[in-house]
Amino acid sequence: MKVAVMGYGTIGSGVVEVLEVNKDLITSRVGKSVEVKYILDLRDFPGDPYEDKVVHDYKTIVEDEEVEIVVEAMGGVEPAYTFVKAMLLAGKHVTTSNKNLVAAKGAELIALAQEKNLNFMFEASVGGGIPIIRALNKCLTADRIDEITGILNGTTNYMLTRMANEGVSFDSVLKDAQAKGYAEADPTADVEGFDPCRKIAILSSLVCGKQVNYEEIYTEGITKITEADFAYAKKMDSSIKLLASSKRVGESFCGMVAPFMLSKEHPLCGVNDVFNAVFVRGNMLGDAMFYGSGAGKLPTASAVVADVVDMAKHTHVNVPTIWSSEEIELVDYKESSNRFFVRTTSDKAAIEAVFGGVATDDAHGVMEGSCRIVEYIEGVVPGEIGFTTSSMTEAEFENAVAKIELVGRIRLA
Ligand code: HSE
Repeated sequence: MKVAVMGYGTIGSGVVEVLEVNKDLITSRVGKSVEVKYILDLRDFPGDPYEDKVVHDYKTIVEDEEVEIVVEAMGGVEPAYTFVKAMLLAGKHVTTSNKNLVAAKGAELIALAQEKNLNFMFEASVGGGIPIIRALNKCLTADRIDEITGILNGTTNYMLTRMANEGVSFDSVLKDAQAKGYAEADPTADVEGFDPCRKIAILSSLVCGKQVNYEEIYTEGITKITEADFAYAKKMDSSIKLLASSKRVGESFCGMVAPFMLSKEHPLCGVNDVFNAVFVRGNMLGDAMFYGSGAGKLPTASAVVADVVDMAKHTHVNVPTIWSSEEIELVDYKESSNRFFVRTTSDKAAIEAVFGGVATDDAHGVMEGSCRIVEYIEGVVPGEIGFTTSSMTEAEFENAVAKIELVGRIRLA
């Protein structure tokens, strides 16, 4: 069986490596050998063992009937979308690791594959090597999924872990993540949260079977997190993680990507370095967690090749994925409720004039009358006070916090 790989960067070269290293295993699992016939890239790779397979025109692949499966590992929406569509129209199965493509065009490409009795698979687009797409598509189909909350970006998790443990600067740790092949070509997508935003949009689309527009998901990255925030987190026996979540509200969902402070008891607190984890809550299942290598060459390539194997075993049948192009209207994040950790230079009188006093019971999730302060955290940064709130809507919080001198705020999970 002949395969073409589009894009010979970190993931594309990883796919070629996995197919080579695990050749015998893959042959026995598919029932025949799977060979790379073409590698599409703008560049040449003199001295590379696969240099003679490199082509520069995607039409070479489109026009070669021998190629049955195409791997897209180029990244970005265009020209990936044009190339993938052309491959499906030419009767080839496609797998992609490209979350930008899947978040923007997933519904359309799934429908096209279905129409042509082909497959369009994208296991590697979320969670690197963690099998979360297949889990949602095939294993959790008895449940109504009420919540998905994940650490879905390996780069920022790696950065936050090292910043917390070693006090390493944001810039140096970012360079290290890039050197390790975790980061996107433009790391803004990682540190500003755009990458996990697209990933949670993909998972949410699979959960509701409709198009979740990533533009509608409130997204905040980690660029405002400072050493002082980590000092507070340490005092509060917590960690800071970039969470991407989608929570059911009636027939719709509320999505959010933002840094959160997690207490040691939180199931995602111990997920460190480049690891990702996805917490799923189903109405029958209860809670489940999926954990593993969330980024990097071989873990991601492993998920792509698993799709290749699946497609090689389903060459004449579409494996259905339910994700229509009908758009779902998401609930405005301002209506969602969270607890907050706040840093301020205002004094306690000014804080309490806005947030009331300290709640007398310790039912953190419950607002007791007008007392919305759960506890003060003092003595971490001279000249400022930290405090945590009970659960408030985002709109209520924004309104209240505008009345004090705000240094920073992080949501609490
Ligand atoms: N830049 C992404 C991450 C790659 O760090 O998670 C995997 O999608």
